[in-house]
Amino acid sequence: MNEVETSSHLLVAAFDFGTTFSGYAYSFRDKPLQIYTNNTWNDGTYLSLKTPTCLLLDPEEKFHSFGYEAENKYKKLVEDDEHHSWLFFRRFKMLLHKNKKLNKQTTVKDITGKRRMFAIDIFSMSIRYLRDHFFLELQKQYSGIEQTDIQYVITIPAIWDDNGKQFMRMAALQADIDDKKLTLALEPEAASICCQKISVDSKDKTNMSGLQYIVIDIGGGTVDITAHQINDNGTLTELYKASGGPWGGIYVDQNFLNFLDDLFGEQVISFF
Ligand SMILES: Nc1ncnc2c1ncn2[C@@H]1O[C@H](COP(=O)(O)OP(=O)(O)OP(=O)(O)O)[C@@H](O)[C@H]1O
Ligand SMILES: [Mg+2]
Repeated sequence: MNEVETSSHLLVAAFDFGTTFSGYAYSFRDKPLQIYTNNTWNDGTYLSLKTPTCLLLDPEEKFHSFGYEAENKYKKLVEDDEHHSWLFFRRFKMLLHKNKKLNKQTTVKDITGKRRMFAIDIFSMSIRYLRDHFFLELQKQYSGIEQTDIQYVITIPAIWDDNGKQFMRMAALQADIDDKKLTLALEPEAASICCQKISVDSKDKTNMSGLQYIVIDIGGGTVDITAHQINDNGTLTELYKASGGPWGGIYVDQNFLNFLDDLFGEQVISFF
């Protein structure tokens, strides 16, 4: 990481781009542990810290909405039988898991499985939405902050290979996040550091140097298992390479649906 670039920032904005849900948090350089999150994502009833990772494009294939807004709009379109020319994408992060052939030409299917778009465009539109949302919220509260004052972080599963990481960087770049202002952070490392720095549930034990522990992040798409040791200077050593796989919540859902298919027949469930 370039010293000059990172030391010029006023604040850090971190995006957790999940398979099923996404959100962001930020903190200022002078008070890094005072972390602000956006907890105003609204599903119509409840407020939440994250919004669904889904994207709706209009019939001209232009961005319409992201998150709960996209879900609710698409639901309404389906109810009115007006959805046929719209494109709804979700769960596309799993495309980056162990995909050796990943490149700018890689495509992703919409929810119907019938239409495709370039994955790089779907990822970058999503990142752009989150970044714009963050920047707008920030400007409501603080005036005079420029894009150049912000260091960006995007979290990624520890089990991703370099292809996935590189693709995320390309998507962020296409969303106008300056490559020099972007750090990719491993999700379990971020969780680990969070537990150390912020005493959640008075887990002060995690401050002990030499301590070894396992972080298991069971997400919507992936299960990420990492073993860490805290060093004397507070840094982390990864004791063993991250392991895990595509075993997140969406696969539990899928298996349950398969079970219903077996029980009642595919036609019945599909009609239902
Ligand atoms: N109480 C619960 N019990 C079981 N599963 C739950 C519960 N609450 C949420 N989930 C599941 O957890 C998943 C969401 O977890 P999370 O937000 O950590 O995933 P993600 O960040 O979107 O995915 P990933 O990190 O794999 O990319 C969803 O699949 C959801 O169905
Ligand atoms: Mg996650």
